[in-house]
Amino acid sequence: MEMNSANIEEIVKQVLAGMSGTSAAAPASAPVSAGQVPKTAHVAMLTALGHYDVKEFPIPEVGDDDILVRVEGTGICGTDQHEFKKDPFGLIPVALGHEGTGEIVKLGKNVTKDSAGKPVKVGDKVVTCMMFQDDPDITMFDLNKKNVGAADVYGLIPDDETHLNGWFSDYIFLKGSRGTTFFNVSDMDLKSRIIIEPAAVLVHAVERAKTTGILRFNSRVVVQGVGPIGLLCVAVLRTMGIENITTVDGNDARLEFSKKFGATHTVNFMQYKGIDNLAKAVADTFDGHLADFAFQCTGSPVAHSNIYHFVRNGGGLCELGFFINNGDATINPHFDLCSKEINLVGSWVYTLRDYATTFDFLKRAKEIGIPVTDLITDAFPLDKINEAHEFALAQKGLKVAVTNVPLDGNTNNH
Ligand SMILES: NC(=O)c1ccc[n+]([C@@H]2O[C@H](COP(=O)([O-])OP(=O)(O)OC[C@H]3O[C@@H](n4cnc5c(N)ncnc54)[C@H](O)[C@@H]3O)[C@@H](O)[C@H]2O)c1
Ligand SMILES: [Zn+2]
Repeated sequence: MEMNSANIEEIVKQVLAGMSGTSAAAPASAPVSAGQVPKTAHVAMLTALGHYDVKEFPIPEVGDDDILVRVEGTGICGTDQHEFKKDPFGLIPVALGHEGTGEIVKLGKNVTKDSAGKPVKVGDKVVTCMMFQDDPDITMFDLNKKNVGAADVYGLIPDDETHLNGWFSDYIFLKGSRGTTFFNVSDMDLKSRIIIEPAAVLVHAVERAKTTGILRFNSRVVVQGVGPIGLLCVAVLRTMGIENITTVDGNDARLEFSKKFGATHTVNFMQYKGIDNLAKAVADTFDGHLADFAFQCTGSPVAHSNIYHFVRNGGGLCELGFFINNGDATINPHFDLCSKEINLVGSWVYTLRDYATTFDFLKRAKEIGIPVTDLITDAFPLDKINEAHEFALAQKGLKVAVTNVPLDGNTNNH
């Protein structure tokens, strides 16, 4: 068979659709639209620093390329917290929430497949990824795209006449003209679907780490910072077969929790005075050796400075904790980088392709007994969204979600 870019793309689409459990060749049997849809939707708008108002807006007409989704639940991300506290992106008033998932209730007639080529119909469960309105050439089939950092996401775009642009709502309107990418994840449970977006950050970070050639099955790995991001880092590493993981944090409860996700040892940095003592405590967890690789999962400049001391000569380091600018960090270029020959990579969000990998990671993690969905410790209804943010800011839970249906399992529904 002659190979050209069109049929290579078709083969890749079939493989990716197969990864998520459905053949791309399966016919779409769905009606174009169905179901009872109300005339208005409720959207939690961040209208001032530290304050949301739940507002009611008309649901727009669903055009041929659009999708209307009934929201089930959405995780609160560190980025939402930054917006809530400081609005660093200058978006207020804004409909926030990007870690969301829900059910398609209306579908434009041109929308027959998701971004991996998997058929979609009314009733399917979906998550969104990036919007590529300004760069329609980006697809998940382009292996050379480093990430999708410059693209927009629902939940972090300026308010417009639609208003239904964030997942902290009961309906979200996905406009085809925005270059929306989305995935049919009907084969995943609600809590797993809520975790997809942050987990994709870690799938990407581990892919970046692998480019150094240092990360191996028997590597000694440090994960510094075990908030939701660091915890998911541990789970991704454990799921890919890495067994020697030490977590570093100042919060004993979080450190203890990291063991459920696959950490073998923990170090509470608060118990050690000076970086040399801290580095020794880390090395002690590896029988006196420094780490082969380390992941920096805090937004703390001091933590960035510290982490070089945990890594052996010729080892690797992935910095992913600075999603926003938290200031400068001091390192000693001679000792920390040059003479140690550290292989440093940065990691920022994810690629579309990382999403497909993430679906499989979440399923595999479950199969090997990692309780990934226990990450969602607390759920609040939409009308308690201010309380939910205050709760999350006080670090009372791990991943806090805003949901329109109660969550099962160990999640505390407020
Ligand atoms: N690269 C990306 O694309 C990306 C995406 C999402 C989030 N992030 C960033 O990842 C970071 C972590 O996110 P999160 O939601 O887990 O945040 P979080 O605040 O819940 O967790 C951070 C953890 O780091 C710990 N910590 C603070 N200072 C420390 C130190 N000096 N040493 C060791 N541990 C320390 C805290 O106790 C906390 O448990 C954030 O800064 C966020 O901006 C990056
Ligand atoms: Zn997020």
